[in-house]
Amino acid sequence: MEGSLAGKVAVITGGASGIGRALAEGLLAEGMQVVIADIQADRLERTAAELGVLGVRTDVSDPAQVAALSAAAVERHGTVHLLCNNAGIGPMSPVFELTLADWQWMLDVNLRGAIHMLTQFLPILRGNADGGHILNTCSMASMMPVPTLATYCTAKYGLLGLSEVLAMELASDGGKVGVTALCPGPVATDLGSSTRNRPADLAGSLRDVMLEDSEQFKDAVVDWISPAQAAQIAIGAVRRGDFYAITHPDMVPEVKARHAAIEKAFADEKQRREAQA
Ligand SMILES: NC(=O)c1ccc[n+]([C@@H]2O[C@H](COP(=O)([O-])OP(=O)(O)OC[C@H]3O[C@@H](n4cnc5c(N)ncnc54)[C@H](O)[C@@H]3O)[C@@H](O)[C@H]2O)c1
Repeated sequence: MEGSLAGKVAVITGGASGIGRALAEGLLAEGMQVVIADIQADRLERTAAELGVLGVRTDVSDPAQVAALSAAAVERHGTVHLLCNNAGIGPMSPVFELTLADWQWMLDVNLRGAIHMLTQFLPILRGNADGGHILNTCSMASMMPVPTLATYCTAKYGLLGLSEVLAMELASDGGKVGVTALCPGPVATDLGSSTRNRPADLAGSLRDVMLEDSEQFKDAVVDWISPAQAAQIAIGAVRRGDFYAITHPDMVPEVKARHAAIEKAFADEKQRREAQA
């Protein structure tokens, strides 16, 4: 996106709470026009009123509601420059307990929701003379496996993969539209009560677990940061045009361990072939 953020237009999904709300506050402070979208009507109304922005009730898993959101944003502000795909849910369950309804809900919101938004908004961003930018809220769970978070990891690895391909394609499409993948570690939000927004027809075994109560983190010191800190890191990356926005640099050993296992598999296979030659 060329030039400063001031005067440009942002649409933020999941904007009623947590990181999305903090992004709205941070982008307003940059002088942007902001539209927030969220499935939770009461909070959306409250946050939109408090921030003085347009709030559009939207379930990102429904393409028709996403189309209505883009029409409302363009009608209010003329265009959209910054698309923040941030709506998400994070309940947990081991794979052997998961139902198809669990998978559907998690993938519909965390992955298909971003795909619906991208399909709807990318033509608008590409049509701007001054381009645009896409900020996808991925996760540390886009880069490392976390037990009981299989549905979440599946969606968030997918969203990071989509972001990587998109960034390459848009770079060779003239570079007018950039991509940032925000990969947060623990942020103190309401993600631990995600089932509050679960559709009744998609009931299953996924349940809300606070991270520090989960099996894998119960003995760890969880380094919580505030939504405002996460939002500032994301906005800095958008301004610089960085692809990755990392909130917890101290979590690199887990990422390195995964990469090392992949590289070892390549090296081992090479060694086996050399031994046979
Ligand atoms: N909090 C963390 O530790 C953390 C870590 C990594 C990634 N993330 C990601 O950050 C993003 C924001 O989550 P948060 O932590 O601020 O949690 P949050 O629960 O405070 O905010 C998420 C928002 O998404 C909305 N939402 C849920 N389902 C929706 C749907 N179908 N359509 C539209 N909106 C919907 C919720 O109503 C809520 O306002 C999510 O994508 C989450 O996966 C969070």
